[in-house]
Formats: sequence, C-alpha cells, structure tokens
Amino acid sequence: MVRYFLLLLALISILVVSIAGLRGCKTSRPPIEIFPDMVRQDKVKAQVPSNFFADGRGAREHVAGTVPLGYSQPECSGGCDAKMGSPYNAVYFSGKEDYANTGKNSGAGTNWGTGIPFTVAMSTLERGRERYQIQCAVCHGATGAGNGIATKYGLVGVANLQQQRLRDMSDGEIFNTISNGKNTMLGYGATIQVPDRWAIVAYIRALQRSQNATINDVPADQRAAFQGTNAASATTTPAKP
Ligand code: HEC
Repeated sequence: MVRYFLLLLALISILVVSIAGLRGCKTSRPPIEIFPDMVRQDKVKAQVPSNFFADGRGAREHVAGTVPLGYSQPECSGGCDAKMGSPYNAVYFSGKEDYANTGKNSGAGTNWGTGIPFTVAMSTLERGRERYQIQCAVCHGATGAGNGIATKYGLVGVANLQQQRLRDMSDGEIFNTISNGKNTMLGYGATIQVPDRWAIVAYIRALQRSQNATINDVPADQRAAFQGTNAASATTTPAKP
C-alpha cells in the first residue's frame, strides 16, 4: 500500500514540477509548435536587408521601363513640341518651374497663367474625364456641382465647380489647386501626373460649358431639333449658381 502511495506521490511531484517548476526559466530554443502552419517562413520583409541577393538589399529595383498596370500616357497631338519646345515627357517630368509644371507664368512670378500647355485633342478630354471620375467626382460630383458621394456621408464645404468664380478662374490656378490643394482640400500632386492634371482642367472646362450651354453652342444645322416647344428657354443662358 505504502509502495503505491509513494509511487503516486512521485508521479504527482514530477507533474507539478514539470508544469509549475519551469515557469520563469528562460530558453533560447524556439517553443514547440504543434501546428506551426505559416507563422514563420522565409520571406523578405520591407526595408530589411537580405543575404539572398548579392547586393544585400531586400528591396529590389524595378525592372527598367516598368510602368504601373493599366497606365497610358494621354495623347498629345501635334502642338506640344511647337508650344513647349521639347518632347512631352521631358517637359512634364522635369520638375521645372515653368507654366506647365506650376500654373504660373514664368518670369512674371506669381501670376496665374491661363491655357492648357499642349494642344487639347478629344483624347485629352477623354483622359481628363477618366481621371476626374477617379480622383475628383467622389467629392465634386459627376458634373462638378459639389455633390459627390462623399458629401452624402457628411463631407461639408466641397466647392461647386460650376460657380461663376471658378468658371472665371484661370487654368493655372485650378492646376495649382489639383497639385497643392486648397484650404480643406488636399493636394493631388503626388498621385496625378502633370499631363493628367492639365487633362482634368480641360475636362472641368468642358463640364462648366456643358452646364451653361446656349442654343448658339449647337451647330446651326442641328438647331431645329432643339427649337421646338422650349425654344425660348433654350436661347437664354441658364441662371448661374
Ligand atoms: C476629398 C474630397 C475632394 C476631392 C477628392 C477633391 N476635392 Fe476639390 N475641393 C474639396 C473641398 C472640400 C474644396 C473646398 C476647399 C475650400 O476652399 O475650403 C475643394 C475645392 C476645389 C476647387 C476650388 C478651389 C478654390 O480656389 O476655391 C477646385 C478647383 C477643386 N476643388 C478641384 C478639384 C479637382 C480637379 C479634383 C480632382 C483632382 C478635386 N478637387 C478633388 C474636396 C475635394
């Protein structure tokens, strides 16, 4: 009987010591993992060196000529060389202080310039519409009326791009607003390339015109279709917001 008792005591002692007695001990060995799954694996972590590559860097350089997926340069038909005096890319990715990169007339210093610094083709407007709908419409709305989806979720103070003040605003100043933001609007210079910003400016002009058209904007031979019942109202300029 005593024999069994001593055996049991010994077993219990071993159990207690093995569970409780080793608590607080330090070990440099990895813990036992029954199902390690993919908790630990060989991989390159961001900004961390790696012996795997000869140059010791974990981060790899882009393959020469890499462009973001789906990216295409807006078309530039003809006029850019003549107006800008150098090839399209060289001008717009130079970071120069000229009109095309700042919206300000160079030399004059702080004066906003006006005009799109390359010839606007239909493809420019299409590019502008695409970029506008991606980058601006969430706040400014599809027509620029300042009623984008974000305003329905409580964003206040979004500018109505159809207002007279912004219709009169020079292209250069709008370009600058896209690049650097204005008051509560953040700048988009880091995410929208220079030619695309100009394409957006051109598209905003098209939007502004689309909301303020008169019968005179319709080609003469097509006016008859619009001069039906509401000819009188069509010939007057709509009220400005
Ligand atoms: C996150 C919402 C948001 C987005 C996206 C946004 N804007 Fe704005 N924008 C604003 C707000 C808010 C204002 C009003 C700022 C103020 O004057 O207080 C504003 C003002 C403006 C103005 C008027 C500036 C002035 O001088 O009064 C222009 C022009 C403009 N935005 C153009 C754009 C264009 C072009 C884009 C797309 C590239 C864009 N915005 C994207 C929120 C936005």
